[in-house]
Amino acid sequence: MNAEIQSIIASMTLEEKAALCTGASAWTTTPVKRLHVPEMIVSDGPHGIRRLRDIYSMGHQSLPATCFPTASCSASTWDVELMRELGAALGEEAIALNVDVILGPGVNMKRSPLGGRNFEYFSEDPYLAGELAVAFINGVQSKGVGTSLKHYAANNQEFQRFSIDTEVDERTLREIYLPAFEKAVKEAQPWTVMASYNKVNGVFATEHHTLLTEILKNEWNFEGLVVSDWGAVRDRVAALKGGTDWEMPGPQERRVNAVVEAVRSGELDEATLDESVRRILRIVFKARETPKGGAFDVDGHHAIARKIAAEGMVLLKNAPLPQEEPLLPLRGHRQIAVIGRSAETAHFQGGGSSHINPTRVDVPFLELQSRAGAAELTYAQGYPADDSFRQDLIDQAVGLARSSDVALIHIALPSYKESEGYDRTDLDLTAQQVALIQAVAKVQPKTVVVLNNGSPVAMSAWIDAVPAILEGWMMGQAGGAALADILFGQVNPCGKLAETFPLKLSDTPAHLNWPGGAGKVRYGEGLFTGYRYYDSKEMPVLFPFGHGLSYTTFTYSNAKASAKTFRDVDGLTVTVDVTNTGHMAGKEVVQVYVHDRASGLVRPQKELKGFAKVSLHPGETKPVAIKLDFRAFAYYHPEYRQWITEDGDFDLLIASSADHIRHILAVTLKSTLDLPCILDRESTVREWMADPRGKAVLGPFYPQMEEQNRKTFGDDGAESSMGLNMMDMVGDMPLVSVLMWQQGALPMHPEDFVDELLAQAHGRA
Ligand code: BGC
Repeated sequence: MNAEIQSIIASMTLEEKAALCTGASAWTTTPVKRLHVPEMIVSDGPHGIRRLRDIYSMGHQSLPATCFPTASCSASTWDVELMRELGAALGEEAIALNVDVILGPGVNMKRSPLGGRNFEYFSEDPYLAGELAVAFINGVQSKGVGTSLKHYAANNQEFQRFSIDTEVDERTLREIYLPAFEKAVKEAQPWTVMASYNKVNGVFATEHHTLLTEILKNEWNFEGLVVSDWGAVRDRVAALKGGTDWEMPGPQERRVNAVVEAVRSGELDEATLDESVRRILRIVFKARETPKGGAFDVDGHHAIARKIAAEGMVLLKNAPLPQEEPLLPLRGHRQIAVIGRSAETAHFQGGGSSHINPTRVDVPFLELQSRAGAAELTYAQGYPADDSFRQDLIDQAVGLARSSDVALIHIALPSYKESEGYDRTDLDLTAQQVALIQAVAKVQPKTVVVLNNGSPVAMSAWIDAVPAILEGWMMGQAGGAALADILFGQVNPCGKLAETFPLKLSDTPAHLNWPGGAGKVRYGEGLFTGYRYYDSKEMPVLFPFGHGLSYTTFTYSNAKASAKTFRDVDGLTVTVDVTNTGHMAGKEVVQVYVHDRASGLVRPQKELKGFAKVSLHPGETKPVAIKLDFRAFAYYHPEYRQWITEDGDFDLLIASSADHIRHILAVTLKSTLDLPCILDRESTVREWMADPRGKAVLGPFYPQMEEQNRKTFGDDGAESSMGLNMMDMVGDMPLVSVLMWQQGALPMHPEDFVDELLAQAHGRA
């Protein structure tokens, strides 16, 4: 194939090459009929196929396809096998709908719960998002259909999304905003990566040579093509130079001409254009290998959507009632009041380019009714479709709740609240919904709240009044059935939060830097996003990352690490026995977080580095093994410009949520890295002494420096004449500045002396 592609490139005219690098329509590549280069069709993504009826237009009528749960829900399964199954089903639908590449998954981090597209993204944690993305991509691509990993990079809000300049430091980028992309590229090779709309540190993502060429293509060995987000390219020639191979949507005659002219004038090297052409042709021909057409298994895929919804829904609260068992699962009730508009009109997806035309939709009320046996179900709307206030609807619901044994309140945010294109402005339910829950709970202590939303909502105003809360998310077209399965106990809930639910908006890590202004947003919280922030601030949250209840109980025992002392390159394996100690079969997600006891640079309190989901019958015990590799212990050092490990002690936290640590294992890491010396003229005394090479050359002079300090400042160590510990003070001064005070005691000028030490430390002398 390579030779064939090379010979096609050799036969292409400059105009043909430039045209290939821009779409022919909103969803297709430009074919080169003369050379038998076919067109390739792409469609949105990510939780269903949005194949437009007319792919040659920007119209919005899409063909029916399964609407799977959105990413907040599927991520809460923490189930890589299920993600793979989801991917494979999407691949099959793509084939049936004649689609070559699905525009997804989206792996942007949830920097703030207000992000308009959070429902399309997996998590606030890069490790979890990366693992899920790998499985999703492998699933789709196992069918011979491509994916588009999006939106690369640091695209975490909708406010000014076409132009905002994300100001983010290198370490934060490497540790928080890039790793999910990195893992997905290295372990799953998506056919395409989508460059985002925003700028990153002053440069448009589509033109970002460091991000696209140096990191994505060269460092991570991305083999596919980079496509621009739709309409993201400002300067086509700059984007080609940066690494954006394919501009979408097309056609863009003016842009094509600009590329031709740039090559002719020498501004753009034709080899750069050829490289983009090569990448595009490779994927176009790869897509051609999978024959398209046929039908997909509508019922089978609906069943997969139902399974994902059931495993992704999170039982947030299920408090025992006085003298009774927890309220859920429902049993023995005769009269059930079903309240809330979303029980009748399922709220199962968000707005924007991911909006799917479902093959069918399960209605929660009907699904509940079909499982209710002898119980009678009644319904009250409870709130209107918009955010207006209707006391009459509340009064009606209260009447029903009062005369029933139990009330189920289904709450969905108005559908326009969560969408691509704009962010939320608060975490609140509508005033009507809050009043409804409060009023119903007052007359009916057995009240369950079922939520349908794409990201966290505030609950402080009513949480204490209700014993049970089920987070049903944007649950996909089969979510109604999944809800009913869980509420009636036919399925044991096992979802765990892939993001923290904060108590209030002002607690959130990005609050002071959200959403930015004057064209810029500063990621001032740095590494401290999601639980990394709440942990380090010791701040209470509504529900922690990783939280999710079950109808059964689990114990953890026999926790072990495969080694007490280990080398970074070997990593280690954590094992723990998990036992189902309750009466119902269930699944548990075991999470392993790593805590570095001491590090050269500040690190979050703990970081998720492994997890496993295990299915257990009542009374059953299974061992769970989780492997931790080099990266589980490393952090990115902006001065070394690489991931580094340091000798020292780590705690491995085996947990059932970020706040519920079951066991702690202490281990010791031996670093095998031979780091280059980064000392320079500005390095402080402490930095010299912390660096092994620095210490070797400065160490012999250190007592003399101390002695000089004593002489100059009368410092006797414990109590100096100036009321301070002089060596502590000079520790944070550049070595050269300290020595300037000690000139007489040195054999040469301090600057020359430091240069000589530097030469020795760097191995130049
Ligand atoms: C969105 C992408 C989407 C593309 C095509 C853009 O506005 O940001 O996620 O894939 O449109 O619909």
